[in-house]
Amino acid sequence: MRKISIKDVAKKAGVSIAAVSQILNNKGQRFSEATTEKVLQARDELGYVPNSAARNLKGRHKRLIGIIVPSFRMPFFADIIQSMQASAPSDVNLVFLGSTDESLQDAIFSLVERGVEALVFGRHIPNRAEVNTFLKKRNIPYLVLDQNADINAHDMVQTNEFTGGSMAASHLMSLGHRDIALILPNNLTDNMRQRRAGFLDTLSTANLTPKTIITTTLSKHGGLAAVHQLIQSKSTAAFILNDEMAIGVLRGLAYQDIKVPDDISIIGYDDTDYAEFMIPTLTTIAQPVWEIGETALKMIIRRLDHPNLPLQTEFFDVKLVIRESTGPVKNTKGNH
Ligand code: RIB
Repeated sequence: MRKISIKDVAKKAGVSIAAVSQILNNKGQRFSEATTEKVLQARDELGYVPNSAARNLKGRHKRLIGIIVPSFRMPFFADIIQSMQASAPSDVNLVFLGSTDESLQDAIFSLVERGVEALVFGRHIPNRAEVNTFLKKRNIPYLVLDQNADINAHDMVQTNEFTGGSMAASHLMSLGHRDIALILPNNLTDNMRQRRAGFLDTLSTANLTPKTIITTTLSKHGGLAAVHQLIQSKSTAAFILNDEMAIGVLRGLAYQDIKVPDDISIIGYDDTDYAEFMIPTLTTIAQPVWEIGETALKMIIRRLDHPNLPLQTEFFDVKLVIRESTGPVKNTKGNH
């Protein structure tokens, strides 16, 4: 179906192309209200959408930045997207794509074809060398955050994952827990490996190892599916590597009428906005997601403005948010 052009709008409104262009670009003050109304009505009836590439050619340059995340549904990434959209300057357009490992190359191609001038990767890049060569050849800078914790060759925003895992272990140990389960996703990304390392390292300072290690999918259903093994392990606490899985675990324990934290303490990771609405409210390690998104966007725009800048890295701390889902270990002898 032929794309509606500005010429079609002018013809339908009975005015010149120049008049349509000026009115639709808020420069039509010299036209009467009736003319403006006719143009807007013709535009809406025809469903005309200005061609941004053509507009860029006319010097009203809006920079287009692509952001690739693994999922739009996971609250962590939804918040990243929201924070970028909310902080985008008026001369920058953003386009967001969700992609799996398998569809990542296609996602990159499609964004490059749409004319993105820079990319932000909020998901793991399996074939980094290939992606790097492809983007370098096209002079498209990119920034990595979150799941690409160990790339040092690019602009990056990181959080202190190791410390986050360590905080979770310290918190549970401070409550007297020694039989602590670790629940983590099947496909462990760089940042989650660091989270796990911090947790194991802190356990080891007390000569502890996890009572059990359960791998599942990075989702609420994944958490739910882990509950049987968690109960079987007789752990008194569990560190779960993101809030979504932790929410699934809470649901599964509730189905079995197992009380949190009386029977078992649960700590998650992210502090997405669900955490404080759970029953019980979820103790977790808070990532500054909003700042991560805003900062990542600022940095990649700075890279576009100054291509030869030295490497940019931003490092954010995480923090322990204690709520109802963690409590002192129950003394098996019955006295607290
Ligand atoms: O909830 C999504 C998880 O995957 C977060 O912990 C984030 O760090 C991402 O890696």
